[in-house]
Amino acid sequence: MDKIFDKLINSFIDDKVGIAENFLSTVLATSLKENLKLLNLENKLRLAGIGNDLLINQDKKIRGDRVYWIDRKHKNIHENKFLDLIDLFVLHLNSTCYTGITGYEFHYAYYETGSFYKKHMDQFKNNDSRQYTMIFYLNEDWELKDGGELCIHHAEKLQNISPQNGKSVFFRSNEVLHEVLTTNKDRFSITGWFKIN
Ligand code: OGA
Ligand code: NI
Repeated sequence: MDKIFDKLINSFIDDKVGIAENFLSTVLATSLKENLKLLNLENKLRLAGIGNDLLINQDKKIRGDRVYWIDRKHKNIHENKFLDLIDLFVLHLNSTCYTGITGYEFHYAYYETGSFYKKHMDQFKNNDSRQYTMIFYLNEDWELKDGGELCIHHAEKLQNISPQNGKSVFFRSNEVLHEVLTTNKDRFSITGWFKIN
């Protein structure tokens, strides 16, 4: 895995937004997506919030995704495999980049056809513990006409990233303005944050 970790970190250092294809194996990505679909059928996903820690607003004009927090307590083998990988990545980050990460939180996200997430930053206004954002895409055979790109607002240009299966994206939570463009197809992912204190 070290090679893929380094690929992600090096592209993050070069371009502010790290991208690595195949960060998740096809098998793991597929299992996670099936798990997410099942959770949706069981009505376990919740409309995501916006704003700060204390006051979570739900506003479908800003974001329309539904989420489910990943947790070892669920004793789900796919979630655990995913978290094992995250643990390895944190060890790698802290030993090679001195990032000092002490925790993390990850959730599944499901964007139903027609939904989006308007331009935003990921760090809360009254809580700066979120340092780095990482997103994993779980969508096989994503095509241009499907939309739903992650659009990064760099100072000089826009960068569109398609939510292709197994791809992972990594950036600083308080620096990178981004949005999810309207998706024309159901869109599945895992998003999370590496935290300090
Ligand atoms: C987020 C987010 C981007 C994506 O959940 O904060 O910006 O591509 N997600 O899903
Ligand atoms: Ni975001």
